[in-house]
Amino acid sequence: MKITIFVLSLLATAFSWNIPHDIQDSWIQVATPHYSKCMCASGADITAAENILGKLLYPNDPCLKCFAKCIEIELGLMLSDGTVVPEAWVSEVAAITPEIAERCVNDTIDILDTCEKAYDYSQCIVEEVSMSNDLNP
Ligand SMILES: *[C@@H]1O[C@H](CO)[C@@H](O)[C@H](O)[C@H]1NC(C)=O
Repeated sequence: MKITIFVLSLLATAFSWNIPHDIQDSWIQVATPHYSKCMCASGADITAAENILGKLLYPNDPCLKCFAKCIEIELGLMLSDGTVVPEAWVSEVAAITPEIAERCVNDTIDILDTCEKAYDYSQCIVEEVSMSNDLNP
């Protein structure tokens, strides 16, 4: 029973991100100049890659994870050794506070696979921004 409720609430969360459209549009605008290069470099599926920010969908796909890493490196949000640059997230990406950036660093600190880390960090950002909008509508 508890597990059912947990799974249902996970599903509900996944399909009800509380991200304002203008914020989501600005995320897409920042990432778009690097889409072709990063799709090519990662071998990511074009539709799936566009759906990350377009629909906030994060399927478990290794190429998409490396697509996210490529985008983050291009934007200076991650160093090529896989180190996240939280200050860059705050300055370059709409709606990210220093607290959110730091919480997501803590959240992903133990992930050794750098593509996975980039993807999970991005997903953490979506969750945190969504949650902050739930708390301060
Ligand atoms: C991140 O982790 C550090 C060290 O454990 C802690 O001091 C800090 O408060 C954490 N930051 C956030 C925003 O949770």
